[in-house]
Amino acid sequence: MIKKGIILSGGKGTRMSPLTKAVNKQLLPIYDKPLIYYPLSVLMLAKIRDVLIVVNKGQLDQYKKILPDGKNLGIKISYVEQDKPRGLPDAFILGENFIGKSSVSLILGDNFFYGQYLTEKLKSSVKIKNGAKVFLHRVRKPERYGVAKVKNNKIISIKEKPKKFFSDYAITGLYFFDNKVVDYSKKLKPSKRGELEITDLLKKYKAKGKLSADFIGRGGAWLDTGSISDYYKTSNFVSAVENRQGFKVACLEEIAFLNNWITKKNIKDAVKFYGNCEYSIYLKRLIK
Ligand code: G1P
Repeated sequence: MIKKGIILSGGKGTRMSPLTKAVNKQLLPIYDKPLIYYPLSVLMLAKIRDVLIVVNKGQLDQYKKILPDGKNLGIKISYVEQDKPRGLPDAFILGENFIGKSSVSLILGDNFFYGQYLTEKLKSSVKIKNGAKVFLHRVRKPERYGVAKVKNNKIISIKEKPKKFFSDYAITGLYFFDNKVVDYSKKLKPSKRGELEITDLLKKYKAKGKLSADFIGRGGAWLDTGSISDYYKTSNFVSAVENRQGFKVACLEEIAFLNNWITKKNIKDAVKFYGNCEYSIYLKRLIK
């Protein structure tokens, strides 16, 4: 069972400058809460309670203001700083001590997942004992992502940002790995863009017949927050869902409460912490 998760929340967010000059992208709002709440909510829905967040050097204080140590959510949050982006697998090298002898999940700090069967899929994914697992989702612009060619629901080959059409199954930024991931990551060589590539890591598992995939179908959403326009589209999506249903997406305290990780008292403390805002009104309604 995977009990540990890493959120890779580094990166300079240059595509969103000047918004990201003073504030890290993952702390900017997607509708009514910071972007980082969304990937953290995914780990919490997978019942992962031990979380390492990789942040840019110098930005730790900003994060700790909003997500100090996880106690308020019944989880444990620790941090590690990254001096410069070295690619996704660097998370496993920086996180070596955190991972120890465990298996681990990785989610990218700017990835947004939503869908009815997501929680079930997550709960089954954390059960993998050895090998690696990824989530695939069909997209219109596969050239922007790591892409997998699929046959009979199995991955047959992988390419990072293929220039020519290869497949429209994007490999989303949510991964589940056994403990070999640390060793494999250390042996990777930087690609042409000068970074370690997650797709090279996945190819190692694939070569050993240890890579499996699950699918986020048409009823699920995997959205991008890379460019300003995609970022606002994701924000609008959350706004549409929340205002229509009256339920919040990625309300961390709600997930923790429903998982029985925190009590009504914690929710009351959260209301005090957030102050007089819509999010607090929602929290108060939860414990009525
Ligand atoms: C990274 C990965 C890519 C993956 C994508 C998901 O791309 O390299 O394989 O599909 O995240 O968001 P990057 O954000 O580094 O361009």
